[in-house]
Amino acid sequence: METSIETGELFQKADWKKEKHVPVIECPDTIKAEELCEVKVSIGKEIAHPNTTEHHIAWISLLFKPCDEKFPYHIGQFLFNAHGASVQGPNTSTVYTNHSIITSFKTSKSGTIFASGYCNIHGLWLSSKDIIVE
Ligand code: FE2
Repeated sequence: METSIETGELFQKADWKKEKHVPVIECPDTIKAEELCEVKVSIGKEIAHPNTTEHHIAWISLLFKPCDEKFPYHIGQFLFNAHGASVQGPNTSTVYTNHSIITSFKTSKSGTIFASGYCNIHGLWLSSKDIIVE
């Protein structure tokens, strides 16, 4: 059986101010070539996303696609593994990994940062931000 899935069927998109699942990318609009660019990605900045054993953000993935290249580069994969579960059962620990990350990378080309986040029950969400290298 042949399956054809369009990107839009797999990744949800929305305005992060109205939809709690959308990754919010915070970084400079313009950077200098070969200088580290700090990037913060969070989910639920305006409307908090739950963080429980039953409902949580499992990971954020970050990619960068230079504007003149065909393929993106994977900057990093960030796993959030503690969501309240313990040997006593769901939501019985006091340990919950928060779903935000700060990382840095460098490039000598302008391009687009893509951030995807995965909610264990609401699927994949995607956002992007252009950066210009001076
Ligand atoms: Fe969710």
